[in-house]
Amino acid sequence: MYKIDTEQDVAQNYRRLNATIRAHTEDEPDLVANLANIASFIYCTLPDVSWVGFYLRQNDVLVLGPFMGKPACTRIPFGKGVCGHVAQTLEVCVVPNVHEFEGHIACDSATNSEVVLPIFRHGELFGVLDLDSESYDRFQAEDVEGLIQIVKTINNYLDEM
Ligand code: SME
Repeated sequence: MYKIDTEQDVAQNYRRLNATIRAHTEDEPDLVANLANIASFIYCTLPDVSWVGFYLRQNDVLVLGPFMGKPACTRIPFGKGVCGHVAQTLEVCVVPNVHEFEGHIACDSATNSEVVLPIFRHGELFGVLDLDSESYDRFQAEDVEGLIQIVKTINNYLDEM
């Protein structure tokens, strides 16, 4: 089993998490295995996160991919919810209070904040990475920066697949 270290220092924690993800994906070609482990590494490393997972693009719909947490909605059309919003804007979306986000899709009523990042393969939208928390305002600038670096690792892996 892999040992998952967590640190008090947020930036250092993300650097270590990213290095772990890089090490476990660079020599493994299987997409599902890699996304499943990435979701698990993030979920097991970050405090106060209730759901971590991928939605993968199929034409103009996002379909649930590997994740950690409670069961979630299977299909999200572009433009619907936070994930569908990100699929349209192609920009990171931080939602400090999901109850104030019009059209938010509540897969789990206990969720109070969320961050969604677009994932690209050869410059085209491949899917999104979604993290939820039961705390309000859970995802701060340091989290977004750390997650952007992790998504770069995922994008590089997808480009080389
Ligand atoms: N809340 C998301 C849906 C996915 S779940 O959080 C796992 C949204 O509004 O897109």
